[in-house]
This record gives sequence, C-alpha cells and structure tokens, in this order.
Amino acid sequence: MRVVSMSFSITGNTALALEHVCRSLDGVECVETTDEEDILDVSGFDGVVLAAPTFYRGLPPPFARRVSKITGGRGQPTLVLATYGAMLGRTLVDLVDLAEKASLRVVAAQALLMPESYPPFIAKGWSNTKAPVPGDLAKLNTNAQTLLKALRGSSQPAVSVSAGFFDRLLGRPSRQKSVKRLGGLICNKTLCSRCGQCREACPVQAIRWESGPVFDRSECIACFGCYNRCPTGAIDAGCMKRRDGRYRPETIGLASRFE
Ligand SMILES: Cc1cc2nc3c(=O)[nH]c(=O)nc-3n(C[C@H](O)[C@H](O)[C@H](O)COP(=O)(O)O)c2cc1C
Ligand code: SF4
Ligand code: SF4
Repeated sequence: MRVVSMSFSITGNTALALEHVCRSLDGVECVETTDEEDILDVSGFDGVVLAAPTFYRGLPPPFARRVSKITGGRGQPTLVLATYGAMLGRTLVDLVDLAEKASLRVVAAQALLMPESYPPFIAKGWSNTKAPVPGDLAKLNTNAQTLLKALRGSSQPAVSVSAGFFDRLLGRPSRQKSVKRLGGLICNKTLCSRCGQCREACPVQAIRWESGPVFDRSECIACFGCYNRCPTGAIDAGCMKRRDGRYRPETIGLASRFE
C-alpha cells in the first residue's frame, strides 16, 4: 500500500508530526511530495495525508494553492492535520474542504496544538514549549490507526469539521496587512555568515541574493521563516528587536516528544 503525504512546514513542527504519522502506518509506504518534486496526481496512491500549520488564522496560501491542484482523487482515505500555536482559525476547515473538492475521503482530521513559532507571541511569553501534550499525541496515534484501517479496507465514515464561533467572526488578515505588521526585513551584514539558510527557508522565493540576502516585500507572506531560521540572528524584522522570539524547535527538544 502506498500513501502520498503533502505538507508545508517552515520551522519543522508540522514535518515532525507528519513523520510520526507516517512511522505509525505499519506496512505502508509513505511517499513525501515536496515543492520541488510535486506529485499532484494522486491516482496511483491508496491514501493521502495532508498536513499544514496555521499562519494568520488560516492555511498558508502557497500550500492552499498546491492542494487545490490535486488531481486523481477517487475517494482515497485521507488524514488531514493542522498544527497551530494559539488560535486555529479556519486551517482545518479549509484543508478538509480542499481535500473534499479533490474527491478525497477525509476519514480523520485533527488540529494539533504545537509550540508557537510566531516571534511576536513568543516575545510576549506565549510559547507552548511543552506541546504537544500526551493526550494530543494519543489522538494523533488513533487518527493514524483510523487511516490504516481504512487503507486495509475497513469502512470508516467520512468526518466533518466546522469552524468555531470566533474563527468565523474574526476572519483573516490580508497578506498586505501581515507584511505591514511584520515591518521591513533587513540583513545586518556584520552578523551575516552568508550561509543562505534564510533563502532556503523562504517558501515564496522572496529573497534575492546580492552577496547576501535582499528581501522583496512585494512577494513576502510575512511567515518569519527567514527570521526564525537565521543561525546568527542577522535578520531584523521591523516589528521585532533582533533575535527576540526566534523559534528553533531543536532548542526545546521537540523531536524527542514524537519518538
Ligand atoms: C507567521 C506566523 C503566523 C502564525 N499564525 C498563527 C495563527 O494565526 N494561529 C495559531 O494558532 N498559530 C499561528 N502560528 C503558529 C504556528 O501555526 C505553529 O507554531 C505551527 O506549528 C508551526 O508549524 P511549522 O513549524 O511546521 O511551520 C503562526 C506562526 C507564524 C510563524
Ligand atoms: S522573506 Fe517573507 S516570505 Fe520569505 S521567509 Fe522571510 S518572512 Fe517568509
Ligand atoms: S540565514 Fe542569516 S546568516 Fe545565513 S545568509 Fe541569511 S541572514 Fe545571513
């Protein structure tokens, strides 16, 4: 049996949760599709896993665009996973909707509270560094087993999810608003080691290279990927004091919680 997993992860939380799910699927080959080698035709797979973080109370737009291009759906059992740090917004609802539009059958859907990766919140002390809690991990295992049972032919009902009252009320900020709130991104040339990691982290190729990173505000989606990833703290975001609130999962031993 083969399952294709499609995910988006800037700082690694969602990737770790997805790896955990794939490890739990005994006897199943989990093929990960990436931005570079994107498998959008899922007709050759028995099941699908979709996993994304919450950015600004919803799905990261580049990932929503990828999922909306999926073809070859024929009711394959699907697990949908949305990670979040404080307020889930419409992430899970939108991902389930997109899966259904692609003719996939969502048999398990979960919102997983994870450590916060949004620097302005971390700087305020809202960081959930102990997440995910054991109860949420147990639920993740149960959801992986539900997918496994469906893959083995047992009939599993399709699940439905709905947005909470505040999520419906609040909506989402526009990209322009988020970028404005982020403020300009500037590279401090004295601190920069020219390692290129910021450029690798950028999901929308908004970083040009001119003997160091140059940020293009018109493409930026304010994901803080470059700011979080920079190993030397060389990037200033207008709304943050340098290095404040940067999120690095390795410093809180997140991976060990998924073992
Ligand atoms: C730019 C940005 C915006 C975010 N917005 C939200 C949000 O609106 N609600 C929320 O609960 N978490 C939010 N988060 C937290 C992430 O969803 C959470 O930490 C997630 O697990 C990160 O996943 P990743 O490491 O796979 O990228 C945000 C994080 C970033 C960096
Ligand atoms: S330049 Fe903008 S879109 Fe690219 S990683 Fe940095 S914050 Fe994210
Ligand atoms: S990640 Fe930081 S140190 Fe590396 S090139 Fe980018 S700004 Fe410079």
